[in-house]
Amino acid sequence: MPVARPDPLLMARGSYDGQAISVNHAFRYGLQADPSYAVPMAKARSTYACTECGAQQPRWLGRCPDCGEWNSLVEEVARAGPSGASVGPSAGSEKPVTLGTIEPDTLPRLESGVAELDRVLGGGWVPGSVSLLGGEPGVGKSTLALQAAAQLDARGVSTLYVSGEESPEQIRLRAERLGEIPEGVQVLGETGAENIVGHWESLAPDFVLIDSIQTLQTARVESAAGSVAQVRETAALLSSVAKRRSSALVLIGHVTKDGSLAGPRVLEHLVDVVLGLEGDREHTFRLLRAQKNRFGSTQEVGVFNMEAHGLSGVDNPSELFLAERSAGSPGSCIVPILEGTRPMLVEVQALIATAAYGVPRRTCMGIEDGRVALLLAVLDRRSDVDLLSRDVYVNVAGGVRVSEPAADLALCLAVASSRLDIPIAADVAVCGEVGLGGEVRRVARADLRISEAARLGFRRILVPSPVPEHLGDIDCELVPISNVAEAVAWLRATS
Ligand code: TYD
Ligand code: MG
Repeated sequence: MPVARPDPLLMARGSYDGQAISVNHAFRYGLQADPSYAVPMAKARSTYACTECGAQQPRWLGRCPDCGEWNSLVEEVARAGPSGASVGPSAGSEKPVTLGTIEPDTLPRLESGVAELDRVLGGGWVPGSVSLLGGEPGVGKSTLALQAAAQLDARGVSTLYVSGEESPEQIRLRAERLGEIPEGVQVLGETGAENIVGHWESLAPDFVLIDSIQTLQTARVESAAGSVAQVRETAALLSSVAKRRSSALVLIGHVTKDGSLAGPRVLEHLVDVVLGLEGDREHTFRLLRAQKNRFGSTQEVGVFNMEAHGLSGVDNPSELFLAERSAGSPGSCIVPILEGTRPMLVEVQALIATAAYGVPRRTCMGIEDGRVALLLAVLDRRSDVDLLSRDVYVNVAGGVRVSEPAADLALCLAVASSRLDIPIAADVAVCGEVGLGGEVRRVARADLRISEAARLGFRRILVPSPVPEHLGDIDCELVPISNVAEAVAWLRATS
């Protein structure tokens, strides 16, 4: 056994027994024979971070105690920082100031020129801010970022585009595809965070884009690129530069299939703005949402359409979703949903078929399976629509995901319409939440939904009963519905 000298540093912190940790390290690195190695090794602290939730543990565990994920802990070796610092403000540290005496930040926002993006940001990028743009691979993050960079360049904002994923030639090809080449954008193919900072200091750009944060590496930590420690350290390093130089920094990050940012949930605390680009690759529709925004509302969403020449903003999403609607066929129902404060009309489709054998199939796209199962059970029990031993297929047209309960009644009516083979008239829209008793409940911001439907030419709108008074002056017929049985009876009466 090596007789390691107790490390005064560790002893002073009082957290570990100096000798024990030295032996532990020496054992792990196979250095038992030479005690002189034990002391320097003791300074490199090892922690274990969960790749799912970012929680840190002092030792390896098979299961993360914080998020319950199995086999997600990876070792991180960080150099020991200065310790034993004396308590109390040091020279040059910040002093408290009274709120009333602080001058408001007067730096104007950098308008990206991509209208839908500016809407979500609340007017543009804030100088000195750090934003995170997340999304699944292939959803269009790099495309959106390059479009924003091109627009900023056209406005004379100096821009640095750092790509660890694509070569400058590939970026040039993409820019050609997007239209006019933004001549002035500085492109850097680099993954070393320290080198990036060096170029940043010498070029002094106002807008810096990192594509993606998971490809960067800093010498401060020893783990591989993309690990929790690397992502956290590089992001911290770059944001400190952004704050100091008052440049707007945008970090692109990949998200895992369950929607969380790969590994570093820690990043979400570090940045000022978290943007998520959503949409599935089979469809062209994309939604940009602010999950966090220190400089604006998180209620705004941006709607894009992925075209041959990049992402183009969609002013009227309802028209996009309803363009291909085949009105007059049973099983289709229009519902005004809300994304943030933006109403959109989407088509919910249902198809009921006789189950060929065994347990009936229930297949749902764009709407949660559990919600559909619940509504089918309610419809089966609370109305005269018999759904037992039927296959049910549910789809939301256009690749939209509907998570609002306000679409419940529309789904029930689409199912009933397909089962009874009665089409819902083309000028009908439906909104309302359905409870387990079959009762139809009120929805949030019914006024926004109804006026959007009326604007697009829907003349009859099924709404939860009673109709709120302030909606009475809208130029269309509001049909109050109090339960699913009533809705089915209404459908039968219209045929
Ligand atoms: P990209 O921005 O590379 O995605 P991410 O950076 O999020 O991984 O976009 C990839 C997809 O977008 C790709 O499959 C092709 C499509 N695309 C278009 O349809 N039109 C375009 O003009 C561009 C640039 C990409
Ligand atoms: Mg990309």
